Amino acid sequence: MRDYTIVTSANPKSPVSEAFRILRTNIQFANVDQVMKKLLFTSAGVNEGKSSTVANLAAAMAQANKNVLIIDADLRKPSQHKIFGLDNASGLSITLIEDVPFMKYVQKTEQIGLDVLTSGPIPPNPAELLGSKRMKQVLMLSAEIYDMVLVDSPPTIAVTDSSILAQTVNGVVLVLASGEVNKEFALQAKERLEKVGAKIIGTVLNKVEMKSKGYNYYYHYDIEGKN
Ligand SMILES: Nc1ncnc2c1ncn2[C@@H]1O[C@H](COP(=O)(O)OP(=O)(O)OP(=O)(O)O)[C@@H](O)[C@H]1O
Ligand SMILES: [Mg+2]
Repeated sequence: MRDYTIVTSANPKSPVSEAFRILRTNIQFANVDQVMKKLLFTSAGVNEGKSSTVANLAAAMAQANKNVLIIDADLRKPSQHKIFGLDNASGLSITLIEDVPFMKYVQKTEQIGLDVLTSGPIPPNPAELLGSKRMKQVLMLSAEIYDMVLVDSPPTIAVTDSSILAQTVNGVVLVLASGEVNKEFALQAKERLEKVGAKIIGTVLNKVEMKSKGYNYYYHYDIEGKN
């Protein structure tokens, strides 16, 4: 069982929440020259912290009075419904298959201004669904309705899903687990994304140990706003 907490909601004064607020600010700066409404979060490998980063950052953005939508486009191992305790009987996969307006399946969270489109049931053909015209339409329409759309996705190494999605968003944030991800592996992920024309706007270095202060849960950020 995974243990998830939305730190930015549960403990807004903690250093972790502060790190997310700084990440939020840096993304706002990346937004100055170009529109960066639709952001994809991915990583090289599994378990690096993509889903927790998306959830915490989205909450931090909603706390700054932004209307934020999380789309759980990890149609292989979804977690946003678990993080927010939401029903996942319907969601993205259903809206893609049935051609139903996606807003019908968007759910509210306890955080005002933060909505989630959960993955829905796991389909047999995630890459095909994520590369569909309908998916592009969902992303386009959601960016008209919300101030920010944060897309959770699978790791880049094993499957093509994130590379497919990277072409439909404005920017990609690579989440790297400190000490866990091998450098070569991370570079491969970056190259794979850049090959399909993705704009990597920055990296989040997650799981940095701050032993001296007794934190074992800390986010480091590095949004450059450029390639
Ligand atoms: N900074 C952190 N410190 C400690 N634990 C963390 C941190 N970030 C994430 N975790 C934990 O690590 C696990 C994996 O996190 P998460 O689900 O966010 O990763 P993921 O990259 O989305 O994984 P997957 O590849 O399965 O989609 C979870 O149990 C989460 O609570
Ligand atoms: Mg995940």
